Formats: sequence, structure tokens, C-alpha cells
Amino acid sequence: MSRIPQVFLDELLARTDLIEIIQNRITLKKAGVNYKACCPFHQEKTPSFSVNPNKQFYFCFGCGAHGNAIGFLMGYDRLEFLDAVEQLANAAGMEVPRSQDDNTQKSQPLYELMHKASVFYQQQLQQHQSASDYITQRGISPEIQQQYGLGYAPAGWNNLLKQLKQERDLITSGMVISHPEKQSCYDRFRSRLMFPIRDVRGRVIAFGGRTLGDEQPKYLNSPETPIYHKSAELYGLYEARQQSNKLDQVIVVEGYMDVVMLAQFGINNAVATLGTAVNTLHIQRLLRYAIHVVFCFDGDKAGASAAWRALENTLPLMRDGVQVDFMFLPQGEDPDSFVKTHGTEKFEQACQDSIPLAEFFFQGLRTDNDRNSMGDKAHLARKADELLSKMPGGVFQQLMYDKLADIIGVDPDKLTTLIHQPIAAKQQIKRKQSAQLAKQQTRTPMRYAITLLLQQPGLAQAANMAGAVRQSNIPGVALLAELIELCSNNPQISTGALLEHWRERPELNQLATLAAEDLVVPQSGLEQEFQGALQRITEQQRELDIQQLIDKASRGELNSEQKRSLQQLISDHH
Ligand code: CTP
Ligand code: MN
Repeated sequence: MSRIPQVFLDELLARTDLIEIIQNRITLKKAGVNYKACCPFHQEKTPSFSVNPNKQFYFCFGCGAHGNAIGFLMGYDRLEFLDAVEQLANAAGMEVPRSQDDNTQKSQPLYELMHKASVFYQQQLQQHQSASDYITQRGISPEIQQQYGLGYAPAGWNNLLKQLKQERDLITSGMVISHPEKQSCYDRFRSRLMFPIRDVRGRVIAFGGRTLGDEQPKYLNSPETPIYHKSAELYGLYEARQQSNKLDQVIVVEGYMDVVMLAQFGINNAVATLGTAVNTLHIQRLLRYAIHVVFCFDGDKAGASAAWRALENTLPLMRDGVQVDFMFLPQGEDPDSFVKTHGTEKFEQACQDSIPLAEFFFQGLRTDNDRNSMGDKAHLARKADELLSKMPGGVFQQLMYDKLADIIGVDPDKLTTLIHQPIAAKQQIKRKQSAQLAKQQTRTPMRYAITLLLQQPGLAQAANMAGAVRQSNIPGVALLAELIELCSNNPQISTGALLEHWRERPELNQLATLAAEDLVVPQSGLEQEFQGALQRITEQQRELDIQQLIDKASRGELNSEQKRSLQQLISDHH
């Protein structure tokens, strides 16, 4: 996966503060050395998510989620490894070293090709009266056509192919369809009004094409390609950001035409998902650029259920300070038709009158619940809790729980008893205790030495027994030797950065568990503990050697030299 040099990652993590990264996203409470929070990676009511600033490492004792700053961004912001590294590097003022055959390099020709295709379609629009008539008749001015780079793919099977020629890349980018059996290739988009889809950097990554008439399908879209992942993209986000580099509010609509028409009416902050339901990736991306999101849906049943799904996906990202509202248009209208019929002001008014997330949430919960009996109340409380518990902890979450208590008419403190099934909670405690016990029972010297080193990499410099230990063949010795080597070359390395070296290796989870273990030893005693563990490893090895020789002796297989070394070993031992 990554061809980024490990030294770069070491340096990056050394310049990054995990606490700051996490605190920008969820509320952390100081608890001794550590910070605590309800885990953002699973549902829970009591905090088992712990972050240690010295180790630069987080661990959830509930679900086992763990990692460093890179891991947190990957998990919480759902970034790919390289994107997480890129983001941290930006913040740290470092440039990510790129190797030749990395993805961006491979994608470059595709971006260039898509740009050329877009230019070609725009030219064609000027040359085809039927297409420009259609756009004019829908009410889109030349300025807006320009702003959104609208174009036209003319009739015919190979206009684009003839124009751009790079057949293989055209196929990879989804612009040309190939039929291997028939040994033929043809343009995907023909006789269609073309909407270029741009990424946040303004590069054309895909197209949507609309027929000029009633042919089916009305819209045709680029397939998934190496540069286009439709579940993460938002049509119009780049154009919206071009209009104002500080977007406070974004309106999420359904269609290409809605975005373009709103811009035509001076509303430049609309974006559309690309024929998919609003998902977490979309919302994450939106909240990176705006703190106020308005979801706009049709006023029918389908609109209401799409809105509810959007709400479910939004809750886990509702950190304090974020505002999310829901707007429902009159039946049979979409933003395109609404703004044309009623004008800009009416649309903006409707937008201002939209329903706040909290209100929509409690409305939605109540519709299929009759809240009279105690049983109904408990049911409603649990249903609400299932969703609310996914929210990042904070003031807003607290307010939502208070409101829930208010609605079902119980004291906020009593709410927890209504929600929690006591038996399940007890079982969980039991499970935790037995896991703890198992851990203590299996604490071998090897395991202990590794644990100490992971948590206190500076100890490697004190490992004067390292040579002897390396001679042994006790399970884990290779791992310990590798750790000693790494840590003595970089004694300042944090636990989190150290574990980065194991990102793609099977031992990672086990090492993370050891890294999170609570050491009861005071700081000043660590070195002695570490030396002691190494000492016990060499003793274990000697006992193994002795045992092996004794076994041989009992079978009468020892030669004289082996007999001498057995005697030596035994006398050393006592
Ligand atoms: N869509 C799609 N494929 C289809 C139909 C729709 O990808 N066959 C997506 C498009 O992104 C489209 C959105 O769903 O913009 C909404 O579809 P629809 O409401 O049918 O179209 P409008 O946006 O209203 O387009 P128009 O006003 O041009 O009819
Ligand atoms: Mn429409």
C-alpha cells in the first residue's frame, strides 16, 4: 500500500499532536494522565475511550479500537491512509515524499483526458443549435453555462474517440465503452447535455449526461473509475467554493439541474449527491467546508424517508457548533421548478423556515410511537438512545438527551435506568473482568519486556542484556529484537509512532493491547523492571537449554562436550 518512507511517518507523527487532532472532533475529558471520552467508534454510555498524550496513542477498552493520529483520521474522518497522511503533513508543514509509481502519478493522464473531453463538449455545445436551444429554453444563461462548464456530446458513436484518440485511457476513465468480443469501442455519451463533475480541486473527474428529449434513461453517469468514486463526491461543491471561499451554509439537493438552476437564481451554495442517498462520506466532506447544512427534499413519502436516512448518517458527525436543518418542498416540486415558479426570495424563505435536526428527530421518533404506557416510553427512549448514543459527546448531545427526557416525562437522571438493560451491563462487566484476568495470567517475561518497551521506547538504550536475549529462541524474541533496534535508533519515538511500523502486520492488534495496558510501576522503576524482564528471559532460555540436554542425556545421546556444557549450565544456574 504505502510507499511512504517509514522515517517520514516517524517525523510526521513526532510533529503531530494526537490530542489536538481528537479534540477538534470530539470532547475529551482529562482523567489523570489520560483523556477520556465515549468511544466514537462504537456505541456506549460510559467512556472507555482513552487517549494518552505521552504515548500519542488511543485505545478503546470497550471495542478495542486503537491507533495514532493517522489511524484516528482514517477511522473518524474515514480517510484513506494516504489522505490521512496528506492531511497531517499539510498541518505540519511537511511535504509527503512521492514515489514514481504512486496513484497520483498514474491518475494524471486521466485528469488531463477528462479536461480535454470537457473542453470538447463545451465547444460542441456552441456548434449544435438543438442543444443550446434546449439550455436556453430551460432558462440557463450563458454565464451559468460557463460557470458549470456545461457541454454537449453530439450524436454519433465515436466523436470523442476520434477527437482524443487515447483509447485505453478513455476506457479507463469510463468515457468509452469497449466490447472485447466484437472488438469495438464506442463513446458512452451521445446526444446528451453534459454536466462535468469536478472534485474540490476543480479537476473534471466524471460526467453526467441528460437527454434533450424523453429518451430513457434521462440521465447517464460515468461509472466508478480510478479518479471517480461517486459515493464520496458532491456535484457543485467546487463551483460553490469558487463563489465564496468561506461557505457558511450549504444546501443539499437531489439533481444536477437543481444545482444549476439555483445558481441561475443567485443561490450559489447548493450541491447535489450523484444519484445516491446522502451518506456519511458526503456529510463529512460538507462539514469540512461549512458548519451549516440544509438538506432539501421533496415533500412526499420518499423524500421523508430519504431525509430520515440522512439524519441517521448525520448524527454521528453532529459535533458541537454544527447546524443541520431539513427542508421539504411542496409535493411535485423540485428546487429547479420551485425557484422558477416562486423566485429566489421564496426559496430563501423556505430555507430559513426549514426544520432543525433536533425537531425533525423527535417528530420522526414519535410518529410511529404512542407514548402513553410506561412500556411505550421505554421503547421510545431506547430507540432514541440507539441513535443519540452515536453522537459525539458534547453539549448538543446532552441537550438531545434532556429533550428526550422531557418528551417522555421523566427526570433526565432517570432516563438512563429506562434505557439501560441492567442484565446486559452486568454481563459486560463480567466479560471485562475475565479478560483482565486472562491477561495477567499470560504475562510472560517476553510479553512484559515488549509491553514496557512499547510504552517507554527510551528504555531500549538501557537494554544491555539485548545481546544475550537475541540468542534465545523464546517465542517473541524476533519481535523484541526488532523493537529494541527501532527504539535505540529513535529513543524519542512515541508509542503511536512505533506502532505505525506495524500497520500492515498481523501482530498489530496484539501490540496495541500491550501498549494500552496499565503499568502499575512508577516511572522511576521502569528501567529496573525492563532489565528484570530481560534477565528472566535469559534465565528461561538457560532452563530450556538445560532441559533439552537432560532429555538427551536420559536417552544416552550426549557426547562429552555436551556433558561439559550441561555441567557448566547447571553450575551457572545456582
Ligand atoms: N439521476 C440519475 N439517473 C437517472 C435519473 C436521475 O443519476 N436515470 C440522478 C441525477 O443526478 C439527477 C437526479 O438523480 O439529477 C434527480 O433526478 P430527477 O429528479 O429525475 O431529474 P432532475 O434533476 O429533476 O432533472 P430534470 O429537471 O432535468 O428533469
Ligand atoms: Mn427537475
